[in-house]
Formats: sequence, structure tokens, C-alpha cells
Amino acid sequence: MGIKKTVSVLGLGRMGSALAKALVGQGYEVTVWNRTPKELPNTRSVATPQEAFKSDVVVTCLSTYDVQQPLLTNEIKTLVNLTSGTPEQARATAQWAKDNGVEYVDGVIMAVPQQIGTEQAKIFFSGSENHHVLQAFGEPVYVGEDAGLAALHDLALLGIMWATFGGYLQAVALVGSEGIAPERFTPMAMSWLNEMGTLLPEMGEETRTRQYETDVSALDINVAGLRMLTEANREQGLDTTIPQALHDLFERAQRGGHGTHSIASVIEEIRK
Ligand SMILES: NC(=O)c1ccc[n+]([C@@H]2O[C@H](COP(=O)([O-])OP(=O)(O)OC[C@H]3O[C@@H](n4cnc5c(N)ncnc54)[C@H](OP(=O)(O)O)[C@@H]3O)[C@@H](O)[C@H]2O)c1
Repeated sequence: MGIKKTVSVLGLGRMGSALAKALVGQGYEVTVWNRTPKELPNTRSVATPQEAFKSDVVVTCLSTYDVQQPLLTNEIKTLVNLTSGTPEQARATAQWAKDNGVEYVDGVIMAVPQQIGTEQAKIFFSGSENHHVLQAFGEPVYVGEDAGLAALHDLALLGIMWATFGGYLQAVALVGSEGIAPERFTPMAMSWLNEMGTLLPEMGEETRTRQYETDVSALDINVAGLRMLTEANREQGLDTTIPQALHDLFERAQRGGHGTHSIASVIEEIRK
């Protein structure tokens, strides 16, 4: 076995600590830096980011890019950036790295800290095709040369997660307004979500071909349904932000001439 690279981790929050522990577990020599000094077993703690830049690879996992950017210097050899951000922020950091002779990998962690080091943790990465130390954290998935692509995938998938969680919480509140307990309702929601997931390939294909003819369910019916959902939430004394927003978006697509088309046609309104 070859000698393992030395690795520094900048940021020892919930995620950064899990990353550093996983690296230690994989036998790397790990240096750590955190704004608030923090000790982590079997790592070397340093007082400044500059001391951490002596390692072969620097992994950053800070709260935001705004916090991270001022810390970076051209002393870094390879930067594996696991701080979450937008595609534009990732591209700007990639450009900064190029201008400063720093090899750059942009990664996003599709997992919670407790999953780090297991195969459930998917790490999407873009920019350099060399995944360096990412496999210590989970399964690296290369998504393309453009450094912004990992962040793009991250936010797209998180968008599904937030929309789903928002819809679930609204539903729990709605049934809960009549005393139905979450433990009774949640299994129904899970089986419904599984079923809905099977509809995505066809919907995706419709968005690609832009052919929205349907004999399943027309947008008109769904707009009417969303109006009922919004009204029902109001009647039960609940917030209507989520159903109202969906209703308004779907209704705009309906007004745009998609009333007899499938739900997939709403993408035309989103893309505007
Ligand atoms: N937690 C998750 O489930 C998860 C999942 C996927 C991706 N991520 C991403 O991982 C990154 C870190 O998340 P986290 O959950 O570890 O957050 P966290 O527990 O809140 O840790 C934030 C880290 O950023 C540091 N920090 C904040 N402000 C700073 C400043 N002004 N200067 C220097 N350091 C500063 C903190 O240092 P101090 O300790 O000194 O405050 C800490 O090390 C985020 O970009 C997040 O989106 C997290």
C-alpha cells in the first residue's frame, strides 16, 4: 500500500467533525482547524488555516462560502470544497483556484453526519475528476467537468426534499386538525410517496419531449383540486402558503393554455 496523503479539515461543525473522523478511520494523517478551537481524537489541531494548508489535501466544510472564501490562500495544493453553495459560488471558487494554481474539486454531501463513512452517503463531485479523499466519506459520484454541477444537483435534490417535507407537514397538520395522529397517517404518506415516485420517469420524458397530451389527469382538474386543498386548510384554521403557492403556479400554466394537458406542462411556466 502506498503512503496516504496528508489531509486537513477546515471546519469542525457537525459535518466537518464527521468527515475528520472518517479520514482518521481510513488511516489518514489528519490536521484540523476550527474557528472555535476544538480537539478531535487522533488529529492534530492547528491554530491557523495557514498551518492546515501544508497538507496535501485541504477539505473545507464551513457553514457558507462567505465564511470560507476569506480563509483561502494560494498555499493550498488541492482544495476539496464540501461547503454548500450555489453553482455560481462553486464556479467562482473554481476560477479562484485556477488563477491561484490550486487543484479544485467541488463536492456536495447528500447525507447527514451519522451516515458519513457508510455507503449510504453519496458525495456528488464536479470539476477535477480525481476524487482524492472523497471515498473516505461515502460513495463519490462524478457529475461533470463544470465545477457548478455538484451544487446544482445538490440544490435540485434538496428542493425535492424540502417540497416533500413541506407537503408532509401540511398534511400532518390537516389530518391532525381532526385529531388524526401522525403515527396513523405517516404509513399512508410513505406508501403514497412510493407510488408517486413511480410516475416520475414518464413525467420527466414529457418535459423532455414537451408532449403533454394525457388520458390520465388534466391540469384543469389539478387546479380545481389545489383550490379545494387551499380552502380546506383555511377552513381548518391552518396556514395556506404551500397549497396557495402551488395553486397559483398551476393556475398560471392553465391560463397559459395547458388546462387539458398533463401536470408536467407546469414546467413551461417554471421555465419562463
Ligand atoms: N449537517 C448536515 O446534515 C449537512 C449535510 C450536507 C451538507 N452539509 C453542509 O456542510 C457544511 C457545514 O454544515 P454543518 O452541519 O457542519 O454546520 P455547523 O455544525 O453549523 O458548523 C459550521 C462550521 O462553520 C464554522 N463557521 C461558521 N461561521 C464561521 C466564521 N465566520 N469563520 C470561520 N468558521 C465559521 C463553524 O465554526 P465554529 O465551530 O467556530 O462555530 C463550524 O465549524 C454546510 O455548508 C452544510 O450545508 C451539512
